[in-house]
Amino acid sequence: MTQGEVMDGCHVPLIERFRGRLPFAEGDPLVTLQEGSTPLLRAPVLSQMVGATVRLKLEGANPTGSFKDRGMTCAVSAAVRDGAKAVICASTGNTAASAAAYAARAGITCAVIVPEGKIAQGKLAQTLIHGARVISLAGNFDQALELVRELVASHPIVLVNSVNEFRIEGQKTAAFEVSEALDGELDALCIPVGNAGNITSYWRGFREVGMAPRLLGFQAEGAAPLVRGEIVEQPETVASAIRIGNPVRWEDAMAAATDSRGAIRAVSDSEILAAFRLLASKEGMFCEPASAASVAGLLKYGAEGAEQIVCVLTGRGLKDPETAIAHNDGMVIPCPAEMGPIEEAVLGDP
Ligand code: F0G
Repeated sequence: MTQGEVMDGCHVPLIERFRGRLPFAEGDPLVTLQEGSTPLLRAPVLSQMVGATVRLKLEGANPTGSFKDRGMTCAVSAAVRDGAKAVICASTGNTAASAAAYAARAGITCAVIVPEGKIAQGKLAQTLIHGARVISLAGNFDQALELVRELVASHPIVLVNSVNEFRIEGQKTAAFEVSEALDGELDALCIPVGNAGNITSYWRGFREVGMAPRLLGFQAEGAAPLVRGEIVEQPETVASAIRIGNPVRWEDAMAAATDSRGAIRAVSDSEILAAFRLLASKEGMFCEPASAASVAGLLKYGAEGAEQIVCVLTGRGLKDPETAIAHNDGMVIPCPAEMGPIEEAVLGDP
């Protein structure tokens, strides 16, 4: 089936759409929220700034607002097929929200372990309302993942972090969509890197359709183990989604960067926030801070001769309202309910 095709008036679920290239057979039970088939939006302001055609892959348009849904439909469908009754993950927020939603849909239980005080409010709200058990760990993401891996070794709970191959399989479909939309014409793909599952997935997807764009991965400066070549014990960044010091897909991500003649580089928090504001104020696209790392990296390091560029915007801005409210150039003007002050507030000098 092709993009835009509908079944029962609905978009085709991701596993249906790409079944031939995913490890699912006809008749397997599917847990879907109609993920995937996300827009690829032209970015005229960015294109002008970098002197190339820049498009944004809007992964925030997925049902729970991030790219995680591509992998989660596969991971949870496979878990249900295999008789699982519970799933678990460590998360900086988006994996938790997605796991919680798909588990709710499947009617199985979900537990998530998140770093205390370090997940954005929107993600916490999602995870809670979907009915997952939320464990707030006095520790960071890397510690949470280590503990959860140990836990599943002795309990019948399916781990749905990106160590789970079904996650990578599902997420590679974003590369298929980019390939279809651009007819295989792409020079570079800019992408934020945290636990490094997504860059791994894109490279797998591109290879499967015979494409080899440069993969330009970007980590936050305070959480850049792949750039520094060593584990970061105390990762710190405003982009809480990628506050990770020891990515599980380390080797795969380095291979993706090297094999594609790309690179993994660092961007500072202020560069991330500048790109975050620019996307919202000039392109009309509100993504979450981690997603803006892809654009921050493109602006910082340039296009390296690329003519066709895609930046992956991994998650929706509404996920993290606190950061948007704390870092913007807008204004809120208090005003009494009278015409004089209203005229002044609307029309006066800012
Ligand atoms: N962007 C967003 C919005 C994310 O939530 C993540 C990862 C990434 C980028 C990085 O992707 O880990 O595959 O390299 N979030 C995970 C989570 C860690 O728990 O939600 P990655």
